[in-house]
Amino acid sequence: MSVQDQLQATVEALVQGGKGILAADESSPTIAKRFAAINVESTEENRRGYRSLVLETPDLGKFINGVILFEETLGQTGRDGVALPEIAERQGIVPGIKVDQGKVALANAPGDEITRGLDGLEQRLDGYIAQGARFAKWRCVYHIDHHTPGRLAIAQNANVLASYAAICQSKGVVPIVEPEVLIDGDHTIERCADVAQEVLHSVFHALHQHRVMLEAMLLKPSMVTPGNAHAGKATPEQVADWTLKVFQRVVPAAVPGINFLSGGQTPVEATENLNAINCMTTRPWNLSFSYGRALQEPALKTWQGLAGNTAAAQAALYHRAKMNGLATLGAYTPDMESDAME
Ligand code: 13P
Repeated sequence: MSVQDQLQATVEALVQGGKGILAADESSPTIAKRFAAINVESTEENRRGYRSLVLETPDLGKFINGVILFEETLGQTGRDGVALPEIAERQGIVPGIKVDQGKVALANAPGDEITRGLDGLEQRLDGYIAQGARFAKWRCVYHIDHHTPGRLAIAQNANVLASYAAICQSKGVVPIVEPEVLIDGDHTIERCADVAQEVLHSVFHALHQHRVMLEAMLLKPSMVTPGNAHAGKATPEQVADWTLKVFQRVVPAAVPGINFLSGGQTPVEATENLNAINCMTTRPWNLSFSYGRALQEPALKTWQGLAGNTAAAQAALYHRAKMNGLATLGAYTPDMESDAME
């Protein structure tokens, strides 16, 4: 298959109404934090056990069409020694890989950060492809404060995201471009909208300069919301309204799909907001999810590191996947939360 055909086939698999992407690519420090919250030690065996529980969830492929994995997971096996990416494939879930190597302070830009990982990316991708990965993810973050994100951070992160996306496409790997405007802070929804617009405008300018094929990528942004320390909460309709207003201004129609991150929203909030977004009038992109915490939190709490809780944890994950699948169709209602075991 040509590189072009590979990209096309992967995008088609990842952009289907009623489904979305599971982000299960927590880095070693992040998964250690998630496990610490349920008193589970982050050993290689526990990570393998938890992630095989996730991928072996019966019928997960009904609502999940892609999973983002961490490097370690690509090489791990589940029940009967089957490689975890293969277990995903058997469920009809496309395996992907987080390829950035985390963020560091951006020099001469106090409060801003830049994401690393471009050096040697081509070679790393060859290895990931051999292990079954068909798409990739790279996350850049933007902190909202009085002087951040600054112009330098916005320009540099856009450039890094575009370089990464171009390299992935040259290898036939669909890039997920993730500019995350963080929810931390007491800012208003209007300020978040301003920052999101600036950031996305800059990202698409860089993608254009790097000749990235917009038809063969996915965007993974945050929704436009007030900061988590802001006095008032926004309704799902306000979030939907602001998010679409900003995106219509700066995200080209050629982009096939926008898969939101949850970014610290509660699981139910993330579902309600996505549903409200999909209840708005027509827009050119598939609007779905690529949630980490909002899909996994209830499952982790139920699991508690105990094999006896596996089926209940899988039911909790399946339920959130289903609720979000319905939200991609604008067909979710809060009363559906009660049929957790369905
Ligand atoms: P959250 O949905 O927990 O924000 O995670 C998504 C993700 O992949 C962050 O990079």
